[in-house]
Amino acid sequence: MSEMTESSEAKSADLSLKEYALSPLNSDKRKPQPLALVIFGATGDLASRKILPAICRLAIRGELPDEFVIVGAASSEIDDEGFKKIVNEATKDIEDPEGVWENYSKRFRYVSGDYLSKETFVQLNQVLSEVDDQYNIGGNRVYYLATIPKLFSVVADGLKSVACNKPKRKDNFVRLVVEKPFGVNLESSKALDVDLHTAFEENQIFRIDHYMGKETVQNVLALRFANAIFEPIWNRRYVDHVQVTVAESLGVEHRGAFYETAGALRDIVQNHVMQVLSLTLMEPPSSMDAGGIRDEKVKLLKAVEIADIDEQVNNVVRAQYGPGEIEGEKVVGYRQEDGVSPTSETETYVATRLYVDNWRWAGVPMYVRTGKRLAKRITEVSMVFQRPPHLPFAGRLSRDLRPDVLSLRIQPDEGISLSFGAKIPGPAFKVKSVSMDFSYKEAFPEVTVDAYERLLLDAMMGDPMLFIRTDEVEQAWKIVAPIQESFLQGEPPLARYPSGSFGPIEAERLIQASGRQWQNL
Ligand code: BG6
Repeated sequence: MSEMTESSEAKSADLSLKEYALSPLNSDKRKPQPLALVIFGATGDLASRKILPAICRLAIRGELPDEFVIVGAASSEIDDEGFKKIVNEATKDIEDPEGVWENYSKRFRYVSGDYLSKETFVQLNQVLSEVDDQYNIGGNRVYYLATIPKLFSVVADGLKSVACNKPKRKDNFVRLVVEKPFGVNLESSKALDVDLHTAFEENQIFRIDHYMGKETVQNVLALRFANAIFEPIWNRRYVDHVQVTVAESLGVEHRGAFYETAGALRDIVQNHVMQVLSLTLMEPPSSMDAGGIRDEKVKLLKAVEIADIDEQVNNVVRAQYGPGEIEGEKVVGYRQEDGVSPTSETETYVATRLYVDNWRWAGVPMYVRTGKRLAKRITEVSMVFQRPPHLPFAGRLSRDLRPDVLSLRIQPDEGISLSFGAKIPGPAFKVKSVSMDFSYKEAFPEVTVDAYERLLLDAMMGDPMLFIRTDEVEQAWKIVAPIQESFLQGEPPLARYPSGSFGPIEAERLIQASGRQWQNL
């Protein structure tokens, strides 16, 4: 065991953060250039839960430049001190023994105002000029849109109105980070792009899908392209079908009102599932850079068959959770959640079957399921292999033999497992499925970097590889469009499942229709 591992076991989580900063794992530590990070929606939930803690950890690990400042912007009428209180509250559980974050946060500024008023942006520009001078920021900006989606275009327009959308000097950068949802359908996502592109060039726009920041999602690429043994079997000759599961045990929490306008299809399938699917199924890129990877992802998405609506209805299940129990605790059904209509038809579960029309995957069904309030939280991709063409054992001896499965577990218990047949000890030649497991945490016990930390740092560094390009967003909307359309027409009828279950019976039927079954959660 390395020195770092021994000590990190003995010390608190935040000391291991510091150790991580000094560890060989972090030897390729990168630091952005001086910059101001402007968070729009700075008093909101996303800023407090994700952005501020991520920035704080980056600061404590020494991954931010000395010349760094956050400027918060929102409509709440607070001042710089009020914003610092919000920052402190959001980061209070992160230990900062050397006061690194405290020092940074002393400089944080806040601009209060209505995004529809030019005055707000004039004021923001003024504050940015002041921090440029005070802290040698030099004019570099990263704007983070953590507002409600309908304000994305308004803010982009406001920034343009005071010429904050373009670098002031040749060697400056100005970037815009946008959180999903990127529209609510193909048309609105295109309209959003037109709006954003009137103020920003595509290469200035960094669209976040936080799944791309997860180490284990990136590990799909390592598994496929750092090894020679998987590639030969990664195709229709050996793979019977693929399953992608994004199961959550949480309900909609306090986001009921938002979720009513989203539903599982838009919230998870259009983005996170498509990202995981495209990385798993795409062709090998010629290089591990932004262009190479994103081109291959788009090519894969373009090959996904877009069914017509009538056909799609038979290949999709939509369902909603009712009351039930999660880990022994009674929980309410979706329609009883705050902000949700008691007659809501919004789906909290989707299962569907897709096909990829290309040489590698033709005819291989891709089963996808996602839902809230399921028995367990688990995100994984499983490649289920074809059965051997002939089993030389009597049927009763191989009753417990299932097809071989390679499962890439994205969360929790991140890892990879391969299940295959083995002989049961004893005189009879009885076989059953066993599993060989690789645990990410056991192999790499060092602190792993949170998805937001990775993505924020990449945006500040200007590395677009893990961000979503506009053509990917568009293609993903095209894939889900027929499903959206059939849901709008009330088809298929909304099924139900109790909270804490494995999902609706209709999803079992969907996969069983072809003689297959879902992997156990
Ligand atoms: C978000 C969705 O994008 O992803 C949430 O809006 C969902 O509804 C969340 O809970 C899941 O993320 P994670 O990282 O917990 O799998």
